[in-house]
Amino acid sequence: SSSEDEGEEYLFKIVIIGDSAVGKSNLLSRYARNEFNMHSKATIGVEFQTQSLEFDGKEVKAQIWDTAGQERFRAVTSAYYRGAFGALVVYDISRRSTFDGIPRWLDELKTHSDTTVAMMLVGNKCDLESIRDVSVEEGKNLAESEGLFFMETSALDSTNV
Ligand code: GTP
Ligand code: MG
Repeated sequence: SSSEDEGEEYLFKIVIIGDSAVGKSNLLSRYARNEFNMHSKATIGVEFQTQSLEFDGKEVKAQIWDTAGQERFRAVTSAYYRGAFGALVVYDISRRSTFDGIPRWLDELKTHSDTTVAMMLVGNKCDLESIRDVSVEEGKNLAESEGLFFMETSALDSTNV
């Protein structure tokens, strides 16, 4: 079909994965609605939101899937990786165990998604500098060795959201 077609749609599916309480739901609510919740509840299963943005003069829709980080939902959430164009793999810079969990999330993603998925490692809660448990360098190094993009973010103060 012609690229001049009115109403032509570009839909990209993005998944957000990572351990429980790293801030996946708050990154999405900050991005989509500019909202932050200090006492958000753990996500059950998966939820998604569609966000429109303009890219190269075209309307692009990002369908962003926010998944549960809790162990008991793993079998459910991994079923949603298929067809993902991109993945945000999130850890909490103030909690090392969530960084140590990243290789497992990457394995799971590679097993259940298509091989072309673009991946970004995200170190969230960078506002918590005073209790930082994972250095920026460590994040960068892991991203480089795994071929991932890398960014530190804060859903609380909106940095890099
Ligand atoms: P699951 O749904 O269980 O997988 O957790 P989640 O990754 O969606 O975490 P959620 O967004 O619910 O956030 C967990 C807790 O961390 C909440 O108390 C948030 O307020 C807090 N939080 C999220 N992002 C940030 C951030 O950037 N900075 C700080 N200081 N706290 C944050
Ligand atoms: Mg959540």
